[in-house]
Amino acid sequence: MSVSSPLPHDAARLHVTGAARYIDDIPTPRGTLHLAFGLSPVACGALEAMDLAAVRAAPGVVAVLTAADLPFANDVSPSIHDEPLLATDRVHYVGQPLFLVVAESHIAARRAAKLGDIRIAEEEPILTIDQALAADSRFEGGAVIWEKGDAASAIAASAHVVEGSFEIGGQEHFYLEGQAALALPQEGGDMVVHSSTQHPTEIQHKVAEALGLPMHGVRVEVRRMGGGFGGKESQGNALAVSCAVAARLTGRPCKMRYDRDDDMIITGKRHDFRISYRAGFDADGRIQGVEFLQYARCGWAQDLSLPVADRAMLHADSAYLLPNARIESHRLKTNTQSATAFRGFGGPQGMLGMERLMDHAAHQLGLEPVELRRRNYYAEAEEGGSAPAPAEPPRDISGQKKGAEKSARSALPQTTPYGMEVEDFALHGITAALLERCEYAARKRAVAEWNAQGGAIRKGIAFSPVKFGISFTLTHLNQAGALVHVYQDGSIHLNHGGTEMGQGLFQKVAQVAASRFGVGLEAVKITATDTGKVPNTSATAASSGSDLNGMAVQIACDELRGRMAAYLAAERQAAPEEVRFEAGAVHVGGATIPFAEAAQRCYQGRVGLSATGFYKTPKVSWDRVRGQGRPFYYFAYGAAVTEVAMDSRTGEYRILRADILHDAGASLNPALDIGQVEGGYVQGAGWLTTEELVWDDKGRLRTHAPSTYKIPAFSDQPDIFNVALWDGRNREDTVYRSKAVGEPPFMLGISAFLALSDAVASCGGGYPALDAPATPERVWAAVRRCAQ
Ligand code: MTE
Ligand code: MOS
Repeated sequence: MSVSSPLPHDAARLHVTGAARYIDDIPTPRGTLHLAFGLSPVACGALEAMDLAAVRAAPGVVAVLTAADLPFANDVSPSIHDEPLLATDRVHYVGQPLFLVVAESHIAARRAAKLGDIRIAEEEPILTIDQALAADSRFEGGAVIWEKGDAASAIAASAHVVEGSFEIGGQEHFYLEGQAALALPQEGGDMVVHSSTQHPTEIQHKVAEALGLPMHGVRVEVRRMGGGFGGKESQGNALAVSCAVAARLTGRPCKMRYDRDDDMIITGKRHDFRISYRAGFDADGRIQGVEFLQYARCGWAQDLSLPVADRAMLHADSAYLLPNARIESHRLKTNTQSATAFRGFGGPQGMLGMERLMDHAAHQLGLEPVELRRRNYYAEAEEGGSAPAPAEPPRDISGQKKGAEKSARSALPQTTPYGMEVEDFALHGITAALLERCEYAARKRAVAEWNAQGGAIRKGIAFSPVKFGISFTLTHLNQAGALVHVYQDGSIHLNHGGTEMGQGLFQKVAQVAASRFGVGLEAVKITATDTGKVPNTSATAASSGSDLNGMAVQIACDELRGRMAAYLAAERQAAPEEVRFEAGAVHVGGATIPFAEAAQRCYQGRVGLSATGFYKTPKVSWDRVRGQGRPFYYFAYGAAVTEVAMDSRTGEYRILRADILHDAGASLNPALDIGQVEGGYVQGAGWLTTEELVWDDKGRLRTHAPSTYKIPAFSDQPDIFNVALWDGRNREDTVYRSKAVGEPPFMLGISAFLALSDAVASCGGGYPALDAPATPERVWAAVRRCAQ
């Protein structure tokens, strides 16, 4: 059985030997030209003049284009057409593309791009959240507010009120393959584009607009990306459009790739946030009401900021039933890179607000943090869930069975602040199992004893849960198509609208196809995503790649299987329902026909052996203005416990141990899913610990290379790293009852941030006001504040 086998990534061997082809590795025709942008040195102002004579005269330069030279649309925005490819009358951030150099070599283009003489009437930029608030600089008019019940009254009537505010930094995607595109001009003005993109249809659409062509004049192909992480949902548009326009003008193939520094300076990152919270708890630690104020720094153009900020609001409840809630969101416009999608798409920021509130409340109320969380969890799903019902009622960490008060709370409607019923809650079981496996109670005591000795090295331990909503909130994006051919020798050509960025989507979907036909994986050819094969695709995003494309492929395979079965059954006067596709053969009317022979017979019998499949997610509907509906088909769950050691003299730290239990439903491929969980956790922990973006007061990004921007290295993995998958099935009818796994584990990294806060808290004082990322500097400063 191919589905659910822990097979390696289809390109694993190519990845590790360096043979996997990325955009820059595609052999280019003779005469290919290379592109680079001239960038704005200033964050804000009127673009008065550009003297590009020196650029044009530089060695190897073939052409230099400005906005005025663009033949059609000058826009690379994925949303509201507010993002010119090349600046027109104003500049909006340091690094904004002003002009495009077309040259004989990559290096020649880059050198020439530095030679522009640019005159900008500089104005005071709006860089920070406070500056944006003061200037009322925002997208979408005023604040967006979603409410459930009456939070203010509930808080006023509560026994305890917990209040705080903190900053959450952004994050650079740091995909290993930088942004890149290659355009190949075709006869009659058509264009073929190879792009490192999560969204080939968007590239097709933007290139068509820029060339004044219908979409059928542009074909986009993507075999793989060297990582995307959300950074290639929209940020590849500029390169693809530039290549296509330059290819049209010169008649020659054009390629563009950003150097790492340029990539970091030009492209958008994760949104940084400020989150303020105020919550009321009863004497037993049950939340009565909570108010969140979320400020998102969106950068200069809208891009995907509105749905990102929405998703932050949608995850403000994290895993907890909030009887009363008010969530207010501000989408602030600043003179910085246009913040964009990044793994979790705002969800991590929203959840971190709640999880930080939970640890803060536990500290203030003197309650055990996991116990406080369990008291506030949504009720466990009655049956089905994504989890087998636990044989025993869940116990709290003191070993006591949960009493009557739990059921009183579970009698409340289990609805989120946006009115969706949580029907599949699995965290009671996952939490109990994780705490037991990682010996949480004993280790927590050991950490307390260690810290009680009062040494310079302090330890901290923390738990955090994940409940992540699966589906695009923009309902129409929840659709996918596939195209499957069976050749007359029984080999299978597989294509669908999803893109491969390392997550293993292609392998998983190939396993689905092999399973449907009952053949080995070697019979299935994985092929590049191609807008000419499957049209009108959604970005591979929102973790829904395998849910959507896996289903579309299953549907296409079943259509072909049905045709083959009907023909082969008729041949033998058997019933088509009894035909089975198993073990490399078709079993019909007592005969076993090897699959290749079955395909040959069907071909001879003039059976159509090519089919499309189309899938749309059921049940979802969402009114984003009212903040009400069912935006998600289901939730994915997980939980983590992280233990850290911290040197209170320097603020330096290490993650000693992380234990994770994650719900991937009935996993399509446990090896790939565990890889996603491990990578997600490390990337999430990196976001909240060492990855710090620093802009100076002119709006220049000072951390634009790995020398100053610290992503986790292999050696930063937890010394002990126990990752397991929760053994469950999706209660919703997804492909083989699996669950999406791309983004949810990212948020398990929140436990690392909370563990550092716990270590700092051991130094005394109140709950530490630690901002994210908790760099050693910030940890050290927080320790100093405790001592005062
Ligand atoms: N894993 C790898 N190795 N590389 C990536 O770029 N992107 C993440 C996640 N896991 C990513 C990854 C993001 S942001 C998303 S939305 C999902 O993969 C997309 O793929 P899926 O829908 O097939 O899970
Ligand atoms: Mo992922 S941020 O949805 O590309």
